[in-house]
Amino acid sequence: MPAKLRVLISEQQIADRVRELGAEIDRDYQDGPIHLVGILKGAIMFHADLARAITRPVRIDFIGISSYGKGKTSSGEVRVTRDLDTSIEGMDILIVEDIVDSGVTLNYLTQVLQTRKPKSVRIATLLDKPDRRMRPVEVRYVGFTIPDEFVVGYGLDFAENYRNLRDVCVLEEE
Ligand code: PRP
Repeated sequence: MPAKLRVLISEQQIADRVRELGAEIDRDYQDGPIHLVGILKGAIMFHADLARAITRPVRIDFIGISSYGKGKTSSGEVRVTRDLDTSIEGMDILIVEDIVDSGVTLNYLTQVLQTRKPKSVRIATLLDKPDRRMRPVEVRYVGFTIPDEFVVGYGLDFAENYRNLRDVCVLEEE
């Protein structure tokens, strides 16, 4: 499929917003390390940049959860493809996500993590598409609220392509 890319959020806008979110997170947490749980694979860029924007101690882990096939729409099916390395009991968990779309992924993940008795669970997402929500999700930190357009770049893919774009772009069919 021939495709055209249109910049929606520039590299500079992302960097500025991530810095703001890091400062906000620094202010919000009292003490102890924050466990940043990145959701593979789309969140890797945001996870890496947000970790460095936070000056409090952080610990880093990843969980693999897949809710999409290779197409553009959610299958509604969620599966864990890689679990966390450690117990999260008694810990402050900040889930780091690239995009909240239908909410299926995060609705499921927050329920799974709550059963492991963490001290707190919050969500930080770079992008939020509220128009697409099918399941409720309480998102504490939102980078950008975006319209219902298909976006790629800065970790987000279409059929595994475009993750390394520095900007978040709308993928338009030609
Ligand atoms: C994407 C995205 C989120 C999820 C959001 O992941 O990274 O994790 O979908 O969609 P939802 O709110 O409708 O559940 P995907 O399964 O495409 O995997 P990826 O991160 O490896 O690209």
